[in-house]
Amino acid sequence: MNTDRTESYIESLESPLPAYLDELAAAARAAEVPIIRPAMMSFMRTLLAIHKPMAILEIGTAIGFSALYMREYSPAKASITTIENYPPRIAEARKNLEKHDTDHRITLIEGDATEVVKAMAGENRSFDLIFMDGPKGQYIHMYDDIKKLLKTGGILLSDNVLQEGDILESRFAVTRRDRTIHARMREYLFRLTHDEDYVTSVLSVADGVALSVRESI
Ligand SMILES: C[S@@+](CC[C@H](N)C(=O)[O-])C[C@H]1O[C@@H](n2cnc3c(N)ncnc32)[C@H](O)[C@@H]1O
Repeated sequence: MNTDRTESYIESLESPLPAYLDELAAAARAAEVPIIRPAMMSFMRTLLAIHKPMAILEIGTAIGFSALYMREYSPAKASITTIENYPPRIAEARKNLEKHDTDHRITLIEGDATEVVKAMAGENRSFDLIFMDGPKGQYIHMYDDIKKLLKTGGILLSDNVLQEGDILESRFAVTRRDRTIHARMREYLFRLTHDEDYVTSVLSVADGVALSVRESI
């Protein structure tokens, strides 16, 4: 059902991006930096309109596109904390944030996301929305800290969970290089969908998204 044609048709219905986000998306594509796909953008925008999060955490900044996208479509005083560990992308993200995050609502933390979320959980930080878009093989290792960081009623949005369809395949059908990530993503999805503290729906939006709501502490 979710063929390339379906995806193209859905994309054709989406409203245009503000010019600066359009330019950033084009720059990311030209430099082969992975950013959220158009279907994910509109899904996220709808979610932001429903949930109106005031504190957002993002794992995986890249060049700052999705952080700026969330800034554009979240309430005017919402803050966004985003984590990235790859120096060339950090430098590019800093440039983009300096230019477009004029009221300093986005904080970029440099470092390994697994360590950063552990430290944040120890400081009792909490967020209304957490967007997981970083190292796919590490989602499972961040599971407990992410749960501590999410408020009751908060939303956890995990991107790329269907791994271009690989997630359906047996581990032997995926390339050896991808087997560890495949096993860890399956474990992550199993845990998320069987955790009584979350209500989760796995959706075939873009490259697959798990939408989870934190029910109780
Ligand atoms: C898919 S990209 C993020 C795209 C971005 N959210 C967007 O849509 O504009 C994933 C990013 O996670 C970063 N990353 C990978 N491993 C990481 C780690 N252990 N800690 C922090 N960032 C990491 C990568 O360098 C990459 O820039």
